[in-house]
Amino acid sequence: MTAPAWQRCLQCAAQLELARVALRCPACGGLLSVEHADPPERGAALRSRFDAAFRRERPGVGSGVWRYGSIVLPAAPAEIVSHPEGNTPLLHRDRIDEWAGITGLLLKHEGQNPTGSFKDRGMTVAVTQARRTSATAVACASTGNTAASLAAYAAHAGLPAVVLVPDGQIAAGKLAQMLAYGAITLLADTDFDGCLALAEAAGSRLGIQLLNSINPFRLEGQKTIIFELLQQLDWRAPDWIVVPAGNLGNTAAFGKALAEAVRWGLIDRMPRLAAVQAAGAAPFAAAFARGFDRLEPVTATTRASAIRIGAPASYLRAVESIRQTDGHVLAVGDDDILAAKIVIDRSGIGCEPASAAAVAGARELRRIGAILPGQQVVAVLTGHILKDPAVLGEIHRSNDSIAPAGANPPRRIAATLDAVAHALRGILR
Ligand code: F0G
Repeated sequence: MTAPAWQRCLQCAAQLELARVALRCPACGGLLSVEHADPPERGAALRSRFDAAFRRERPGVGSGVWRYGSIVLPAAPAEIVSHPEGNTPLLHRDRIDEWAGITGLLLKHEGQNPTGSFKDRGMTVAVTQARRTSATAVACASTGNTAASLAAYAAHAGLPAVVLVPDGQIAAGKLAQMLAYGAITLLADTDFDGCLALAEAAGSRLGIQLLNSINPFRLEGQKTIIFELLQQLDWRAPDWIVVPAGNLGNTAAFGKALAEAVRWGLIDRMPRLAAVQAAGAAPFAAAFARGFDRLEPVTATTRASAIRIGAPASYLRAVESIRQTDGHVLAVGDDDILAAKIVIDRSGIGCEPASAAAVAGARELRRIGAILPGQQVVAVLTGHILKDPAVLGEIHRSNDSIAPAGANPPRRIAATLDAVAHALRGILR
């Protein structure tokens, strides 16, 4: 095709126009991908185009997604639905280095997006595309963050939003967001995997555009986590990028972004990608251990509700990402996830439980010798600390006999100065 961008089936290689609305390949049912013609400039010239765009942006107004628009989704400024999003920091704390056993571990905090998760990067692109292809309504299944983000961007675009979420399994902060932003919120009597199957069927029967990460436009937006972190590192590739993994949209998007970054000369070598799952929801890690023979879905259980997913939709795309980057897939237990979360929270950064899996995973990769001393590692924190107040309650309000190390329980006191002084005895000097 001669267009700047088009859609391609990952299974049968059929090509579709960019404006064609299809969740899967009409010929074979395979997942679709957005492909771009090679940009007119490569290497240093392309890097300086993005650097110039960064310098031109007014603080707080620029979008860390649309800065890279030419390799994400060619769109006219008036078409774009943006809050804006992205421009998230790369953070470092000695305390986290010590815990993980990695010097100079950088944390890309995607929880600092407008709705508190990385989903906003994919949603600005998917909602922009939905609106310019005349969607009448948009929908998703979700463990919470996708639904919160969809609700906010649909509200901004003036589109009705329908979200299908597993009843009783959504963290309170996320549920509050979808209701407040005005989404039609359906609490279904099933798990995330059941919700996704239902949403896909409902989307095709009711003519609603589904904006789960099956939708290739979501992944184009999520690629910018990689472009932005590479730009923040002055286009010097780190050795490892570590990401929590559930439905595998991010793992898929990261592999695509890295392949494009190498192909177009943004970086001169390929970082290794590590995907980290929770041990009770780890079908991707299990498949990796068997040489990616096949995906065997599981019934998922973990306290990291965002990644409580047993049949990841982007499995095949994610396998490609791990292969292309000589990557690694591993699982970490909930105790390690919560231990990592306590260290991240106590450093003043904070994140939701699923995000802490990235740091727990980095620590494990160092422990088994996959990450070598002196290597540069970037871990992606995917969601904000306030998304899941119940887990914070469990950690910090649990009774003393079972409180985890690092618990900081509040203390009830009488409203007297003596009681305050008594409570602080031995603590303040
Ligand atoms: N971290 C957080 C905070 C998430 O919300 C998710 C996914 C992931 C990690 C995993 O990313 O699915 O691309 O592998 N949340 C989805 C949702 C499933 O519905 O909000 P993934």
